[in-house]
Amino acid sequence: MSTHINAPAGAIAENILLPGDPLRAKFIAENFLENPKLYNEVRGMYGYTGTYKGVPVSVQGTGMGQPSISIYATELFKDYGVKKAIRVGTCGAISEELELRDTILVNSACSDSCLLNQRFGALHFAPTADFNMVKTADSVAQKMGIRYTVGSVASSDFFYDINSNWKKWKEYGVKGIEMESAELFTLAAQYNRRAMAIMTVSDHILKGGETTAEERQTTFTNMMKIALETIISV
Ligand code: HPA
Repeated sequence: MSTHINAPAGAIAENILLPGDPLRAKFIAENFLENPKLYNEVRGMYGYTGTYKGVPVSVQGTGMGQPSISIYATELFKDYGVKKAIRVGTCGAISEELELRDTILVNSACSDSCLLNQRFGALHFAPTADFNMVKTADSVAQKMGIRYTVGSVASSDFFYDINSNWKKWKEYGVKGIEMESAELFTLAAQYNRRAMAIMTVSDHILKGGETTAEERQTTFTNMMKIALETIISV
C-alpha cells in the first residue's frame, strides 16, 4: 500500500501503461487487456491489472502535469517494483512535418518545470527514454505502416502557455508539447527502471484543425498496439 495507490503488494504488474486520464485507464483495461481487475480507485485515479497475450500488464491513470505523474510513478517504482513504464497520451504538435493524429515515439523530454531545478540545481539533466523500448516501438510502428516519427517533446507546466515557450522549443527541433514525460523519465533514471512515452497529436499548435471521434479512436488503437507490443517484448 502507498499513499495514493491502495493496492496490496503484488497487485501491480512489472509492466505498466500510464495514461493521464483515469477513464482512459479504465477504457484500456476493458478493451485491450484480458481479465482486468481494478486495484485502485483512490481519488478516482483508476488502476487495473490484466494480461496482454498472457503477459501481466497494468494500466494506471496519472492525472495531468508533472507533479501528479511524479506521485504515481514514484509509488509505482518505489513501493510496487514496476520495472517498465510507458506513458500513453496526447500532445500538441509544433513541427511542420507532423499532422493531426500522427504518432510520436518520444526519445527525450525537455521541460520548463521547476522540478528539474529542484533536483539538479545548476546542473541540466537530460530526461531520456529507454533506448531498447524506443527501438522496439520503432520497429512495431514501422511494421504497422502508420504515420509516426521519433523525437523529443517538451513537458510544460502550462497547458495555457502564456509565455509562448513552444516557439523556443520549436526552434530546437522539439516536436510536441505535453505535460508529463520529463518527470517520468527522470524518475525512471532515479530508480534505475525503464520508461518511454508514446503520444498522438491531438491538436496542432501551428496548423490548427480538429479530429473526428472516429479518427481519434483509430489513432488511439494504433498507439495502444505499439505500447502493448513494446512493453511485453523488451
Ligand atoms: N499543450 C500541452 N499539453 C497538451 C497539449 C498542448 O497543446 N495537447 C495535448 N496535451
